Amino acid sequence: MTQRVAVVTGSHKGLGYAIARQLTQKEIQVIVTSRKEQDGRAAQQRLSQENIQVDFHPLDVTSDVSVQQFTTWLQQTYGRADILVNNAGINPTAQPEEASLLTVQLETMRSTFETNVLAVFRITQALLPFMKAQNYGRIVNVSTEMASLTSIGDDFFYPLAPSYRLSKVGVNGLTAILAKELQGTNILVNVYSPGWMQTDMGGSSAPFTAAEGAETAVYLATLPEGGPQGKFFAEMRKFGGAIALPW
Ligand SMILES: NC(=O)c1ccc[n+]([C@@H]2O[C@H](COP(=O)([O-])OP(=O)(O)OC[C@H]3O[C@@H](n4cnc5c(N)ncnc54)[C@H](OP(=O)(O)O)[C@@H]3O)[C@@H](O)[C@H]2O)c1
Repeated sequence: MTQRVAVVTGSHKGLGYAIARQLTQKEIQVIVTSRKEQDGRAAQQRLSQENIQVDFHPLDVTSDVSVQQFTTWLQQTYGRADILVNNAGINPTAQPEEASLLTVQLETMRSTFETNVLAVFRITQALLPFMKAQNYGRIVNVSTEMASLTSIGDDFFYPLAPSYRLSKVGVNGLTAILAKELQGTNILVNVYSPGWMQTDMGGSSAPFTAAEGAETAVYLATLPEGGPQGKFFAEMRKFGGAIALPW
C-alpha cells in the first residue's frame, strides 16, 4: 500500500510537533505545517537531527490564499491526504477581559473563532475531497474538556474563559455535524481533549508533556475501519484507554 500522508496544522512546536513526531513512528509520511516558514523549517531540522524525516509546507489556517496554495502543493506533490490533525489554536484566556462575560471583547471572541473554529472548517473542507476520492480519512480535531457543556457548571478547576470555551464548543459541534455527513464512509472524524500540557499555551506548571497529550491524537489518526465516528474523547492517559466525554 502507498504510504499514508498526514497533515498536522500548527506543528512546528507544542502539541502539533509532538503529534507530527509520533505519527512518523507509524510509518506515515508527515507534513509539518506552520504559518511562518522559518518556524516550520526549524522544526523539520530538529526532527532531522533525530533521523526523523518529515516534509514541510507553510500553512496559515486562517488564510484562504494559504490554504489554497497548500492544497495545490499537496495535490501536485502527493495527490492525497489520509490524515488531518486540526491542532492549530489560540487561547486568549490570560487576558483580564476573559475573566467575565461582561468584559469579553467581541474582537477577541471573533479572532479566537477565526483560528479555532472557522479555520478548522476551512482546511477540512479543502482536504476532504482527497479523502472522499479514496474513501479513507482520519480527521482529528483538538478541543478541551472545558468545552463539555455537561460539565461546565461544576468544573471549578478551570477559568471562565468564554472566548476559548465557546470556540472549542464550536469545534465539537463541527465534529458532530461532519460525522453525521460522513456516516457509512471510511472517513472517521473525532475530537479530543489532550489535557493540560507543558506548551507555550499550557505553561510550565502543567502536569503533562506535549508527547503525552499527543498519544490520543495518534490513536484517533490511525483508527481501524469501523472505529468510532463523531465522538469527543478524553486523553487516554487519564483513563488508561479511549473514553468518550459528555458533550
Ligand atoms: N496546552 C494545553 O494545556 C492545551 C489543553 C487543551 C487543548 N489544547 C489545544 O491544543 C492545541 C495545541 O496547543 P499547544 O498547547 O500546543 O499551544 P501552542 O504551543 O501555543 O501551539 C499552538 C500552535 O498553533 C499554531 N497556530 C496558531 N494560529 C495559527 C494559524 N492561523 N495558522 C497556523 N497555525 C497557527 C501556532 O503557530 P504560531 O507559533 O505561528 O502561533 C502553534 O504552532 C490547541 O488547539 C489548543 O487549544 C492545549
